[in-house]
Amino acid sequence: MWKGVIEAYRMFLPVTDATPVVSLCEGNTPLIQLHNLPGLFNIAAEWYAKYEGLNPTGSFKDRGMCMAITKAKEAGSKIVMCASTGNTSAAAAAYAARAGMACCVLIPEGKIALGKLSQAMLHGALVLQIQGNFDDALTLVREITAEYPITLVNSLNPYRIEGQKTGAFEIVDQLGDAPDFHFIPVGNAGNITAYWKGYTEYFSHQKSTKLPKMMGYQAAGSAPIVMGHPIEHPDTIATAIRIGNPASWQQAVAARDESGGLIDMVTDDEITQAQQMLAGHEGIFCEPASAASIAGVIKYAQANRFESGQRIVSILTGHGLKDPTRAIEIASRPVVVDRTKAAILKVLSPMLESA
Ligand code: F0G
Repeated sequence: MWKGVIEAYRMFLPVTDATPVVSLCEGNTPLIQLHNLPGLFNIAAEWYAKYEGLNPTGSFKDRGMCMAITKAKEAGSKIVMCASTGNTSAAAAAYAARAGMACCVLIPEGKIALGKLSQAMLHGALVLQIQGNFDDALTLVREITAEYPITLVNSLNPYRIEGQKTGAFEIVDQLGDAPDFHFIPVGNAGNITAYWKGYTEYFSHQKSTKLPKMMGYQAAGSAPIVMGHPIEHPDTIATAIRIGNPASWQQAVAARDESGGLIDMVTDDEITQAQQMLAGHEGIFCEPASAASIAGVIKYAQANRFESGQRIVSILTGHGLKDPTRAIEIASRPVVVDRTKAAILKVLSPMLESA
């Protein structure tokens, strides 16, 4: 029986037999080979999607939050706090509830997807909305947690990175080796940092024969690393990565440079097209920010060749149901029909004719 990432990768994590593990059986997410998109974009390589949206709270954050809350509990902490564009707050609220701890989350007012907000609320967190962006919220949370007995559970907390590196372990275990390319959305840059740590640790334990190129993608309106300076007013429909001054900026640059990879950006239109293509041609529903890792592959393939025999992994960081508002905005409307067979057949006929 799968018991979560701490039990699965205990020997690579900072836990002892006495550590009180707080888990929701996160991890063990599927690595789905894409069958239709490679042909549509003339990509010869094998292309896989790591569907992190299938974690217990619907995003990759569960891997890191499991570890952060476990260590907070071990240290006797009673309260945890984070700034969030949504997913971190959902995971923090859920794992804190599981651990019997209090949780406070600071979010940017009006810029958080509905699914994420509903999670933080129902798990019983104290939800504070500020008139500011994620970067403002994180600054406040850092100040408050430095002064009061509250554990910070943003990815500045090193245990978050420890937990999230298990995503890399799983990919290597699933593929039998590391991929050639690892495409990932970049927001606060904790996840690209964690994956690179995971790949390099597994490599040094001879679990893989190679290391992937780390290919990070920011949204064009929120691309500080690509621009080379913080963005004061970041903007994108991918609210999860609407971040102007990533906390792990230097680590993301190191991952890029040490791996011979790239940090680039994709536009909101490219993100939207990628989300639609993945849903419509592969049956996989991810949230907008996650689609940046698909849009990144499509963009890269326009100017570069992926060779047959190479393997690409795109990290689908969050489930599409996190942001139903956006999905409904970009999809075709339901058709209203009379309650008769004839009315239904009239609308259905083009589909029947083309089948
Ligand atoms: N994808 C999703 C769905 C996210 O929620 C995030 C970050 C990222 C990608 C980027 O990961 O920050 O490690 O580079 N969400 C954070 C949050 C900021 O508060 O939920 P990163």
